[in-house]
Amino acid sequence: MSEPVRVGVIGLGTVGSGVVRLLAESADQIARHAGRRILVERAVVKDLTKPRHVPLASDRISGEITDIAGDDSISVGVLLVGGLEPARSMAVALLESGKDVVTANKALLAEHGPELFALARAKGRSIAFEAAVAGGIPIVAAIGECLAANRIESIRGILNGTSNFILSTMEEEGADYAAVLKLAQQKGFAEADPAMDVDGTDATQKLAILAHLAFGVWVPWRDIPQTGIEAIDQELMAFAAEFGYRIRLVAVAARVNGRLAMRVSPTLVKAGTPLAETREAYNAVSIVGDAVGRMFFHGLGAGQMPTASAVVADIIDTVVGRAAITFRTTGLLDPDSPAARIAGVEMPERHFLRIPVLDRPGVMAEISGTLGRHGISIASLIQHETGMPGPVPMVIMTHHASPAAVAGALTEIAVCDAVQGTSACLPVLDDWQPAAEHLEG
Ligand code: NDP
Ligand code: HSE
Repeated sequence: MSEPVRVGVIGLGTVGSGVVRLLAESADQIARHAGRRILVERAVVKDLTKPRHVPLASDRISGEITDIAGDDSISVGVLLVGGLEPARSMAVALLESGKDVVTANKALLAEHGPELFALARAKGRSIAFEAAVAGGIPIVAAIGECLAANRIESIRGILNGTSNFILSTMEEEGADYAAVLKLAQQKGFAEADPAMDVDGTDATQKLAILAHLAFGVWVPWRDIPQTGIEAIDQELMAFAAEFGYRIRLVAVAARVNGRLAMRVSPTLVKAGTPLAETREAYNAVSIVGDAVGRMFFHGLGAGQMPTASAVVADIIDTVVGRAAITFRTTGLLDPDSPAARIAGVEMPERHFLRIPVLDRPGVMAEISGTLGRHGISIASLIQHETGMPGPVPMVIMTHHASPAAVAGALTEIAVCDAVQGTSACLPVLDDWQPAAEHLEG
């Protein structure tokens, strides 16, 4: 067997500790795949006083990125620090010093990917990032390599473990939103700033990365319409269930009339379908390719060991040279990647509306009349008698309608006298499959 390879790990939090543990505990298995042993030469952390429960001597843990970047015996930098800075500067330091980089930091890639990938190319190094999207599910390799013969038509996925854990636990246990979020943080699923999980940012950044791999275009994540799960409550879940649906935070990128449509939004998914049955911190990705047809991937999208599984696979790929070949040949995150204009590209779909109305004569006619004037047809409607004073929820499932028309109708509805409060509007993911068409810029 060849000489061992030495790696440096930056960050010993949830994921970093898991990676060090997996490299130690599964050393033989990993060496069999890598053709040599992989040793953690050093780890770098922020707070040197924290107790560390990792199989690494304390004199191998230090506080400066230069301890890894400046060590010529280390060939791979495993960057497991979240956020943008100092993660960006650390990635630059690793690449400048001739190290290959493995990272799980999707925020970094979504924000600075083109710049970092250009630097890696200039330095003849690679960046591997399987763990950055959908945790333990090998979706980056699936889209970037295994499905490379396909023209991808659509990707729909649950890409954030924390929000899925919150939604499915609220749904199944009637649990309170804030309490479940706290539990997700304790379990190590959530970002350091959990707002990025629940407001859809994390899923949107992952979607930008997947769309780049699948469609070859670079869409800045801020251009992707994004809605989080903060406004989802038990009542909305109960009405969705009455219609036979569950609510999930779904990320979609699909070809529509030759353009790319993208969005991240809480979405109604039919109970019993794979996305609806994705629970806890599991992620799921459904992909339609022109040759392979529809495929479904399911697995843990967050958490220590599932994420470590993907990081260590990337370390092995880097050590054996596969990552470098993929990196060189696929033009990943090339700054010259064409941009796609996604603004105004709409997916034809049904909508689920909850409108808080006063229970008095003529209100239903007023609401349905407004929807009708905007070309929106009602498929079904629920309004329960509450026997209480004050507004009652009028819940409507529309037929297929343009999101712009629905937004226009809701703006008009918001100023009706009988409407008391803010309406909710969620898209409904039925088994709609976009037609195969060519993408325009
Ligand atoms: P944690 O917050 O648990 O750990 C972050 C680590 O980074 C800590 O060890 C911290 O040091 C270290 N760190 C922070 N700032 C510095 C600094 N200035 N210098 C040196 N070290 C620093 O994060 P996670 O392990 O959960 O996540 C790491 C990355 O992986 C993130 O990008 C995240 O998005 C991504 N990811 C996380 C998943 C998960 O399930 N948790 C799943 C998939 C991806 P210290 O310990 O001293 O505070
Ligand atoms: N915070 C992320 C999530 C971690 O909950 O999905 C995995 O990327």
